[in-house]
Amino acid sequence: MFVEPYKIKMVEPIPFLSAEDRQRLLREAGHNLFRVEARHVTIDLLTDSGTGAMSAAQWGALLAGDESYAGATSWSFFEAAVKELTGHSHVLPVHQGRAAERILFGTLLEHGSLTVANGHFDTTIANVLLAGGKPVDLPCLESADTSSSFPFKGNLDLVALREVLTGADGSRVAMVILTITDNAGGGHPVSPGHAAEVRALCDEFDVPLFLDAARFAENAHLVTVRDPAHSGELPRGVAKELFRLAHGAWCSMKKDAFGNIGGFLSLTDDALAHECRNLLIATEGFSTYGGLAGRDLEALAQGLQEATDPAYLAHRADTASWFADELAAIGMPVLRPAGCHAVFLDAGALLPHLSPQQLPGVALAGEFYLQAGIRCAEMGTLTFGRMQRGAEPARAARRELLRLALPRRVYTRSHLEYVVEAAAAIVRRAHEVPGYRILSQPLHLRHFTATLEPLA
Ligand SMILES: Cc1ncc(COP(=O)(O)O)c(C=O)c1O
Repeated sequence: MFVEPYKIKMVEPIPFLSAEDRQRLLREAGHNLFRVEARHVTIDLLTDSGTGAMSAAQWGALLAGDESYAGATSWSFFEAAVKELTGHSHVLPVHQGRAAERILFGTLLEHGSLTVANGHFDTTIANVLLAGGKPVDLPCLESADTSSSFPFKGNLDLVALREVLTGADGSRVAMVILTITDNAGGGHPVSPGHAAEVRALCDEFDVPLFLDAARFAENAHLVTVRDPAHSGELPRGVAKELFRLAHGAWCSMKKDAFGNIGGFLSLTDDALAHECRNLLIATEGFSTYGGLAGRDLEALAQGLQEATDPAYLAHRADTASWFADELAAIGMPVLRPAGCHAVFLDAGALLPHLSPQQLPGVALAGEFYLQAGIRCAEMGTLTFGRMQRGAEPARAARRELLRLALPRRVYTRSHLEYVVEAAAAIVRRAHEVPGYRILSQPLHLRHFTATLEPLA
């Protein structure tokens, strides 16, 4: 039994469309759900980014926003909140996570630099490539078994990391990144003990460790329930411990911090902070607002406090694991163990008649929309594969996943029951689901704008 630890004060209607309309709208959107208008979506599980419901305290904080260009009071609240959480001496506000990535990579990476991570997210990959670097993913071996209950599948492969650092390319490694939680791989957490080992390895080779900390609070909650060394601790203490193991962090505050927009870059190195701040001022805004309004800073500082509320986090984790169990019970292959921000489906396992190049994740996403107006995001070869470059063949992703993201404090259990019902109908006709081919695509982040068509 789990109950929302909040009540609902404001509601928005959601549309229910006919099957004919859904078919037409998907076709008109080039079979890409990012191109479908939100007013044509019944349940929107595309992302948990910027889609959360703010609290009454956050809405109240908006009104207190100080819109002074420099040194606003709202900036002081924001800076203090980030410093208290991270322990890092420099805080740079940014309009969202990818701006922090661009500023950090633009400063630290050179042509040919490597970034090594447990798993880079899509915008992180794009920004590493745009800065002339090369992203290398080294997920732990346990993460390959999608059905096992191993508690920390977000960990890195430490043996492989040492091999890279001691190998011919070792001197090119510009940073090691721990993405908490591992969004691209399934929303799995990283344990503090493991992060300490990664930090020790970084110190041995004089390479900085950074956190991509969009879901720092959910990671911390999962540590308190899965890691005997931290059982009974509060999530906030665990989150603080993790931040203090890193030389710096960037955070999209559109996730755990309940922002509709916002982010930060926090750093411990004075010289690096100086360079990044100059780039921030040139490209985002002055160093005390960084592309955000004073009211955003105010609401984000409040959100940062709410993010680690133990009752809220426990409810969120319980919702995700209940949802995963319900989907598994109707025969949908689900990644285990479920994290907090999403349930990941193994589209490759449900649709074995489709090759990675026939994009099973896209096919399954299309079925959810056609069946019931549900929108979710492919995390397979369209998002993480590489397109054909010259003679180099197109490369498949590691897995063909579909992410059903859970916006924070937005949907109730009956909304998710509606999704399970739709999933059951799709499972029954899975063998008939057609593959897709790409009609048009850009060079980077192709999943956002590509157009596709079903194979005959
Ligand atoms: C792990 C991770 N890193 C970085 C980002 C980029 O953040 P933003 O969307 O705020 O630019 C995201 C967004 O989904 C993410 O999940």
